[in-house]
Amino acid sequence: MSEIAERLEELRDRGLHRRLRLIGGPQGPRVTLDGRQVLLLCSNDYLGLANHPKVRGAAAEAAMRWGAGAGASRLISGNMQPHSRLEKRLAAFKGYESALLFGSGYLANTGTIAALAGEDEVVFSDELNHATIIDGCRLSRAETFVYRHGDVEHLSWGLRKAGERAALIVTDGVFSMDGDVAPLAELSELAKRHGCRLMVDEAHATGAIGPGGRGSVAAAGLSGEVDVVMGTLGKALGSYGAYVCANRETTDYLLNTARSFVFSTALPPSVAAAGLAALELLESQPERVERLAANARTLRDALAGEGLGTDGTETQIVPLPVGDAATAMDLCERILERGVFAQGIRPPTVPEGSSRLRFTVMSTHRREDLERAAKLIGSAARDLGVGADRRAVAQLAA
Ligand SMILES: Cc1ncc(COP(=O)(O)O)c(C=O)c1O
Repeated sequence: MSEIAERLEELRDRGLHRRLRLIGGPQGPRVTLDGRQVLLLCSNDYLGLANHPKVRGAAAEAAMRWGAGAGASRLISGNMQPHSRLEKRLAAFKGYESALLFGSGYLANTGTIAALAGEDEVVFSDELNHATIIDGCRLSRAETFVYRHGDVEHLSWGLRKAGERAALIVTDGVFSMDGDVAPLAELSELAKRHGCRLMVDEAHATGAIGPGGRGSVAAAGLSGEVDVVMGTLGKALGSYGAYVCANRETTDYLLNTARSFVFSTALPPSVAAAGLAALELLESQPERVERLAANARTLRDALAGEGLGTDGTETQIVPLPVGDAATAMDLCERILERGVFAQGIRPPTVPEGSSRLRFTVMSTHRREDLERAAKLIGSAARDLGVGADRRAVAQLAA
């Protein structure tokens, strides 16, 4: 057996082996999955914009006008009008002086964190931050102080210990796997007090929370105050890519030093044009954001009616804690058999022992579909003894 085959076997033994499933046709509240119609409950296309006619149309038109690719990095010859137009609109939407596009959220986080913190400095990172933030911390070669989830006391202690070496506090705005919101007011206050920067990842906040879907920073009244706001175009904005909003000096610095910006081909113009069309829809139709919140409440309430706790979060991300990976995948398959698709989430995406189903609602879901889904999730969970006793699940995770 080859070494790779052995490692694959080990993943299978631990219930951690993954495989691709195939979606036929475009994204939507219902999709064809491996040839079957299912209700989609695990997409980040929160506002149903990935398949909106205006967004598709903008992408198609831009592809015809500007071509399929940008041909080079932005700093060589790949900087095109769709990029700069989108940057201006994103900065205005978020209440910042400037925005800089990156090829993806992964590239934005790794490039930005590594540019803003260096070898002799300390980065402070919430223990439940997204993997792309973790990788950014690693790439920076700074010392990383991982503070307990949302624990400002712990963070404050770390900041005091780091003294002058404190460079950056970084956090998800809405936590990707748990759906809770970071304590941004306290984090901002601590950053100011200790003279370090605060960076917030709004991948799951933009289009979902805050006034008109402007995100968690705007919701906390901190637009322009938080030093660096990162967001993605591949989730609520239905396209692909990412951006960082900051003052002009900071984006100029990132443009010059963030290696994932400097050494990577610019987004295809059609993708930037799709992002812009989606942003325009978000600005002109804020009711989509309200519908998303209402749908999240519907699902959460309906799950509670089935005796399933979802950790009291209030966003469109509704986690159902299971515990071990194999049971999470079993539950995933059982509900899939009944026509609902919510991928099981396992380590390393979440900590060992905290595997879960992560339901995400879309503004385009119908209320009755969510209620029906909760019923069948409840019945499958009861069959497996999931969710009946939350303390038992917590013990399993401990
Ligand atoms: C919190 C968070 N940050 C960053 C990313 C990465 O963004 P992208 O998919 O554009 O690489 C994701 C999701 O994938 C995410 O959930």
